[in-house]
Amino acid sequence: MSQGKAGEIVICMGSSCFSRGNKIALGIIRSYLRENSLEAEITFRGAHCLGICEQGPVLILNEKQHKKVMPDDIPGMLDDFFAEN
Ligand code: FES
Repeated sequence: MSQGKAGEIVICMGSSCFSRGNKIALGIIRSYLRENSLEAEITFRGAHCLGICEQGPVLILNEKQHKKVMPDDIPGMLDDFFAEN
């Protein structure tokens, strides 16, 4: 699959990550991309359980796994990500 210019964001949608934060994170990321007109710059997709539930919620930014990501952390993480990519 081709990626957006800035790369790819993958959010774990497995039941553990989803129930512990990624349900909220999903909406935060979507809003962030929309509000910053970045939807065309990035591929954003969900993934099945990544097998590291105990370290979740998991978010992958250009193949780098971020663990125990809390929804409040996400805007700052995305600010840094898009500043670098
Ligand atoms: S549900 Fe996310 S790693 Fe298992």
